[in-house]
Amino acid sequence: MLPTFSAARTMPTTCVVGILWGDEGKGKVIDYLAADTDYVVRFGGGHNAGHTLVLPPSVAGEGKLVLHLVPSGIVHPHTVNVIGNGVVVDPIHLCKEVEMLRERGIDVELGRNLLVSERAHVILEAHRRQDQWGEAVRGNGRIGTTGRGIGPAYSDRCARVGLRVGDLCRPDSLRAALGALAEQKNALFKPAGLEPLNVEEMFAALREAGEALQPGIVDAGAALRQARLDGRRVLLEGAQGCLLDVEHGTYPFVTSSHASTGGAFSGTGMPPHAMKTIGIVKAYATRVGEGPFPTELHDETGDAIRKAGNEYGSTTGRPRRCGWFDAVAVRYSGAVSGVDELVLTCFDVMRGFPLRMATSYKLSDGSTTTDLPAFDLDGVVPQFEELPGFEEDICHIRSFDALPQSARDYVAAIEHHTGLRVGTISVGPGRDQIIRRHQS
Ligand code: IMP
Repeated sequence: MLPTFSAARTMPTTCVVGILWGDEGKGKVIDYLAADTDYVVRFGGGHNAGHTLVLPPSVAGEGKLVLHLVPSGIVHPHTVNVIGNGVVVDPIHLCKEVEMLRERGIDVELGRNLLVSERAHVILEAHRRQDQWGEAVRGNGRIGTTGRGIGPAYSDRCARVGLRVGDLCRPDSLRAALGALAEQKNALFKPAGLEPLNVEEMFAALREAGEALQPGIVDAGAALRQARLDGRRVLLEGAQGCLLDVEHGTYPFVTSSHASTGGAFSGTGMPPHAMKTIGIVKAYATRVGEGPFPTELHDETGDAIRKAGNEYGSTTGRPRRCGWFDAVAVRYSGAVSGVDELVLTCFDVMRGFPLRMATSYKLSDGSTTTDLPAFDLDGVVPQFEELPGFEEDICHIRSFDALPQSARDYVAAIEHHTGLRVGTISVGPGRDQIIRRHQS
């Protein structure tokens, strides 16, 4: 009898997700965990993501490394990195990212340490144009997308007119599918005043990318199921954050994928199984793009946090909106994603600031809630708890007990109000700037 997944003596899977609106520092946490992992897998989003790694020069040369599509395990020579079927792939961007990594001295070999699911959908030039046009038409109601074609690519997947990465290796059907798609899109583009698509140009660019990527284009779901049967350790790398999840987030100001843990199985082809979920959350809150943000600061304190935390988008360079920690939102996302443990990042940035957190929301009818409402989030009034801040530089601290008392009290308050344990604290961008807490 063939072995089945459920019968396998499998290693536990770990899933890492952003808790609020992304940019929580997942790249650093994945890099840290990937040292003890065999496979690192992206299960959603596209090159709208920006995962930043600050590595020793011996690993990737000088300067930080920003990954958009390639999983953050790529800097560890022993890991296999997988772009799962739930990701939307811009093949031209992916080729450039691989090239950039090689120029930085990182060994990338398609088919060995980088696999791309043949079932992942492709982002086309048409999607980028649609995305940017859609935002322009929405005007003040815009979402604030990254403009990279993410939403339209996922829309075409659902509309069953999309192209998959495996199509890039099938020239005849690729040309036919592009022709049909261009005919349909151009009929919409013309009245909107958009430049029509050129099938031959698109075909040539996609074929070139397809040939370069071909050795790595595989049935990634089958590879992952087999890896689990073989007892390999799998790390799932979430993109964006739970509040940008298309269903559980602050709709419609969300991305178009399932960014919470729920997306991890459909986005990889691995069947549901027990796993450890780690939620990444900053010691304050940030958001890029439009949409409700109850604890947002519109004053000089918000500007000061942005400056202290260098809060500018790693994909678009946009200034991030900054605000206080929101225990209501964190608790909600932790529950939706089944978070077992939080990693609290950017704690060093809070030096010199008061430590404030929202613990409940007052609604327009005068009632108070500790749940995140699905509607009218922009009308809630957060109720805050404030603790004294700390003045010390904590970047060099490596043990929880060595943190200032006020910092430890803040962590205890986060645990109290979110119901989630803070297992790890990051006190700087570097690989070693981590405090691991032991289970008490
Ligand atoms: P899209 O994913 O480009 O369609 O953008 C939808 C929303 O998600 C916008 O508010 C973006 O700013 C936000 N977004 C997308 N990717 C990221 C990310 O990696 N970090 C933070 N926000 C993101």
